[in-house]
Amino acid sequence: MNDMNDIETAYPLRGIDRRELLAWMWLLAATAAAVKATQLTYGFIRGSHATRQPTSFAAGSVADLPMPGEAPRALPEGRFWLAQTQEGVAALDGVCTHLDCLLGWDDEAHEFACPCHGSRFDATGRHLTGPAPRDMDRFAVKIVNAEGVAVASTDFAAGVLAAPITIDKGDLATGLYVVVDASQEAMGAPPHES
Ligand code: FES
Repeated sequence: MNDMNDIETAYPLRGIDRRELLAWMWLLAATAAAVKATQLTYGFIRGSHATRQPTSFAAGSVADLPMPGEAPRALPEGRFWLAQTQEGVAALDGVCTHLDCLLGWDDEAHEFACPCHGSRFDATGRHLTGPAPRDMDRFAVKIVNAEGVAVASTDFAAGVLAAPITIDKGDLATGLYVVVDASQEAMGAPPHES
């Protein structure tokens, strides 16, 4: 009580009485708690996407690429997915374009599904439904030979691997590897008209 009396006498000219001061203190404390809670919630939803360092990921042999119509292949260490599109190979960012939740794969529907607000994307990353504003973003991807020389790389205009080679499981060139460059990310296309 003495402390409050001291505070009260410290502000006599501002007309702040003890009850008003207490109310302000409670408001400040509540605001600080709300800000902290929001930060924690946002951090939980975002996961550690923000901490991903721009780097290259060796995504394995060309033989491991999914074929058209097959489910995209997850590469959890880079939080992206390798998918076959009609145009070629794409490395899809596994982070939702709405508010950064991590997307999961719905094997039954053959779609990506966001656990947070229900956005859905087809197997090539095309936005289907939900609040996400655009398609899944894409990383640059290239195919290198055993010497590390790129024989095909992403055409950013198209957002897919511009492959001058035919990638066919029955005709796989040996010693070709997929490298995803997470330092180069292309924004997904804007929403499509349905
Ligand atoms: S974060 Fe994916 S729909 Fe909201």
